[in-house]
Parts: sequence; structure tokens; C-alpha cells
Amino acid sequence: TTLPVTSKTSTLDSYRTGDGYADINWDELGFGLTQTDYMYMMKCSKDDKFSCGELSPYGNIELNPSSAILNYGQGVFEGLKAYRKQDGRFLIFRPQENAIRMQIGAERLCMNAPSIDQFVDAVKQTVLANKRWIPPPGKGSLYIRPLLIGSGPVLALEPAPEYTFLVYTSPVGNYFKEGRAPLHLVVEDRTYRSTPGGTGGIKTIANYAPVLKAQCEAKAKGFTDILFLDSATKENLEEAASCNVFILKDNIISTPDTQGTILPGVTRKSIIDIARTYGYQVDERPISIEELMAADEVFCTGTAVVVAPVGSITHLGKRVHYKVGELSQKLYTSLTGIQMGLLEDKMGWTVEV
Ligand code: COI
Repeated sequence: TTLPVTSKTSTLDSYRTGDGYADINWDELGFGLTQTDYMYMMKCSKDDKFSCGELSPYGNIELNPSSAILNYGQGVFEGLKAYRKQDGRFLIFRPQENAIRMQIGAERLCMNAPSIDQFVDAVKQTVLANKRWIPPPGKGSLYIRPLLIGSGPVLALEPAPEYTFLVYTSPVGNYFKEGRAPLHLVVEDRTYRSTPGGTGGIKTIANYAPVLKAQCEAKAKGFTDILFLDSATKENLEEAASCNVFILKDNIISTPDTQGTILPGVTRKSIIDIARTYGYQVDERPISIEELMAADEVFCTGTAVVVAPVGSITHLGKRVHYKVGELSQKLYTSLTGIQMGLLEDKMGWTVEV
């Protein structure tokens, strides 16, 4: 990957050729933001296509107070990770999938989106420029956050006249502060994440703040996260606030079918494929709350969460405990083995930077 020739090239080259690590405690990474050196930015007007972007030092961005993102939430984001291999190379996981999902979300919100190649190239450039922040093997990953926002000014409700695509990174460890310990989830029965015909199936920025109130209340009661039911029947499982959900019952794996109300996770899709290669039947179908409570094993998947076993679920005051999962451990080991370059990548999912 060639970095753009800008006045910052000499600084960038020193990171490319230097083999140093950033001076942080790699044993203490959680999922808080650690600001890294560079971010990538590319802009285009509504009537154009994205053409060229560039890296700049990580820092605040300027936004018009009447930008569509600030006023009407016209924006989508993505999340993916880069890992440092034992041999010093860097791997990113299925970045084309994130690029496609961003395009689908952009289309739903009437936004211009970068091409798949532009997206992947921007991710690679940002990872390389921040390579001293990629944790040592086994200590975590570099989380990559691409954003696409309506940055142009509007007053009436209409698509923004300008769009900005941004990529920044942060080294991360485990998503939940409990580390890899089993999650204790509570079913949320007052608020809903998504509605049929709504935007639950795309990664719009506006899907996330509305879950905070229920999530904060659940955390205050000692739960790790909340589980949402579908808003149409209030009977079927959808997903957790930050990840997708799977159950195992009688050796069959099931996960809610996406149908536009559930985020089609890249980790979700990869886990379905990995489980099938182990010979498991994996069904994507509606899962009732009763089935969830009667499952043999439950686990969550997501880019940030990876594969996390569920230890208990509480619904209407009733708490069910699950055995902590051999299956989720096996799937976690296979997925992260591929992501970190420890296992052969037979699916061709990883991309070397
Ligand atoms: C991810 O898993 O990458 C996400 O975007 C979820 C977010 C709540 C951290």
C-alpha cells in the first residue's frame, strides 16, 4: 500500500520503517479509546463520487453546526480489527464485508459511499500509519472505526450536500470489563431496538444511543448487557445492544434470521460458516424467548465482542443459568486463530496489510 504523498510523508515513513511499539501498557487494554497517530479523511459532494482522501494527524474535525449528521443523524459506521502476527505482519479480517455493509447503509440513508476498493485502501493506509499501536500478538487488536457522515449543512430534512468518510483506530482488548467471563444478560421488555421497515438492519449511528438508557439501568443492576425482543410480536429474540446472539439446543445451532431488523454481523456470518465446517446444522430463523431460556448453550458474537459465552439470562424476574460453553470456546479459538494468522485461512478471509 502506498501512502499519499503529503507534507506528512516523512513522519509516516518513520512509522513504516520503524519497528517500535507505542509506549502503553499492553496488558491493560480494554475497550476504551486510546487515540492513535493518524486518521484518514475523504470528502465528496452529493453530486460526485468519492475520489481521493488522505491521512492526517488524529485530531478534532470541523463540522458545520447545521451538518446533517449533527441535526438529523445521517451517518453510518463500521468496525473491524487488525492483528499483529508472530512474524510481524498485519492481518485485517474481511474488510470487503464492512465496505459492502457501509454501501448498503449509505443507500438506505441517501448518502454517497466509498467504493469497496476505496474503503479497503483507506483501512489499510490507516492501519499502516498507526502500526505502532497494533498490540503485540496475543495482547489484543487494533480496532478500526470507519465512519460515513452527512457533513454538509442542511436546515430542512434532506440529504446533506457533502459527505465525509473517516477512518480512525484504537488498540483494544476485551470489550466487556469482565474480560472473557460469561455474560449475564437481561431481556429488555420496555424498549425495542428496531422496527419492521426501520433501520435495525444497517449500522446507522442513530441505532445506538437509543439503547443507552435501558443498558445503563441494566448495568446498574449488575447485568453485562441487554437483549432485545422484536417489536412486532414481542416474542422473538433479536440481538444484544452490542452484538448478535446464538443458541445451541440438542446439538443444533440457531440464530435469529436478519430480516431487516437485526444487524447482519460479519462475525455472525463467519461463525455460521465455521460451525458448518465442523458439521453443525446452523439455522437462521425466529427464536422465541421460551426457546432461548431452554437452550443448552448461548453465546454472543460481534467484532468488538468476538465470541462471548452467556452465563445467565434474566427475563421478567426469572433467571436461567447456562453451562459455559465448550462450543463457544471452540468457535472463539477457530475464529481468532484465523484472524491472528495462527490457523490456516481456508476461507480466504484475512487480508494482509
Ligand atoms: C462492533 O462490534 O464493531 C460494533 O460496532 C459494536 C459497537 C457497540 C462497539
